[in-house]
Amino acid sequence: MKFLWTMVVILLGTTTYAQATDVETGRKIFKKTCAVCHNLTDKKKVGPGLKGVYGRSSVAEIGTLTEEKLHRWLKNPRGVKPRTRMPTYKVMADPVNRQAMIDFLQTL
Ligand code: HEC
Repeated sequence: MKFLWTMVVILLGTTTYAQATDVETGRKIFKKTCAVCHNLTDKKKVGPGLKGVYGRSSVAEIGTLTEEKLHRWLKNPRGVKPRTRMPTYKVMADPVNRQAMIDFLQTL
């Protein structure tokens, strides 16, 4: 039993959000997928400008944009806000890509 719990702890420890801090990967995905709707400044395009987005209060009224909130939003915006105009992107289904994106957003 103790062994089993140890395994559970080890697995949880390694599978929760990826550790990679790949800002460049995030930037590339942003250019390809997000830039049509978002500026990197605070100027609105289709969606809100994303300058300083990490940790600020959400324009989309989903609360403070913490890391956890951003993971949920990027994975499935409509799961957080059913009538949002922001679509779900396959590339954001991958937690490694999501973390890279969040690391990138954190630099803005
Ligand atoms: C088709 C246009 C469109 C695309 C493409 C798009 N978004 Fe959005 N995004 C929006 C809109 C519109 C909102 C505001 C949602 C609302 O108010 O319901 C938004 C909101 C957001 C927010 C929350 C901002 C806030 O202040 O609440 C973040 C973060 C975000 N988008 C990141 C991204 C990322 C990262 C990508 C690329 C993977 C992306 N978006 C692609 C339209 C888009």
